[in-house]
Amino acid sequence: MNTHFQPGSFSETHEICELHRLKKIHAGGFSICQQCASDDLDKSNEKHQHDVNKMVFEKHCSGALMPERHAGSTFSNYETSTQGQANALQQCAGYVERIAKKQTCNFIMVGSTGTGKTHLACAAAKNIIKMGLTTRYITSEEIASRIMQAWDKDAKDKSEESVINVFAQYDLLIIDEYGLHDREKRAELVHKVLYARYDQNKPTMLISNFTLKKLKNDLGDRLWSRFQHDGLTIVECNWKDARIQEVS
Ligand SMILES: Nc1ncnc2c1ncn2[C@@H]1O[C@H](COP(=O)(O)OP(=O)(O)OP(=O)(O)O)[C@@H](O)[C@H]1O
Ligand SMILES: [Mg+2]
Ligand SMILES: [Zn+2]
Repeated sequence: MNTHFQPGSFSETHEICELHRLKKIHAGGFSICQQCASDDLDKSNEKHQHDVNKMVFEKHCSGALMPERHAGSTFSNYETSTQGQANALQQCAGYVERIAKKQTCNFIMVGSTGTGKTHLACAAAKNIIKMGLTTRYITSEEIASRIMQAWDKDAKDKSEESVINVFAQYDLLIIDEYGLHDREKRAELVHKVLYARYDQNKPTMLISNFTLKKLKNDLGDRLWSRFQHDGLTIVECNWKDARIQEVS
């Protein structure tokens, strides 16, 4: 197909394009094959579109505020040498698919340090962004700090409610390091965000070093009940810390 050249507006040469077996035409002092020229244009449009998509993806990734350390963390570079890791990867990828279908289900990843929880969460976020959905990565401690900043009387146009409402809007909110620095009052603020997301039918991924029992206890009966309402996936990560080299 040639949509870029009008037949008859260029005179033919005696040269034949080896690739397309078409007569080349005179154009701008050159002899060119219309099909080759058209293909080049398609390729350049394709490249342009690819570059635009990449730019948009990178912009949204930086807006999601994932840790710089996890800029390269993806599902495909998450190694699965144990059954537990393979399951964690599979559950995370399945969760992303459910979110793409606009399901409100929640996700909990608990377990020991260096097991790849943040890695998988960031990989999930990138896939969510690729689907054109909005996501935000934040630690539990930062949520509390953001809300507390709104209490400051100098914080113009901000109220506790408006900050919570911003957190309630993302298609997926990833709350990492739950319980790490949350003393009672701070935990309460994180809980307010969880309640708001429940009320707005929005899915949340919650990550913690707590045991599942302690996390359940910390959330309390009312939140635990709500967190499960539309389906909850729980992944417990209790394998070797990838940060620690074995010493022999
Ligand atoms: N299965 C894995 N495949 C590839 N890289 C991994 C894997 N597990 C962990 N890593 C890498 O090890 C480092 C630590 O992982 P990560 O930060 O995700 O751990 P974490 O479970 O969030 O730990 P913490 O509870 O201390 O926050 C990261 O650089 C991560 O990319
Ligand atoms: Mg982590
Ligand atoms: Zn040609």
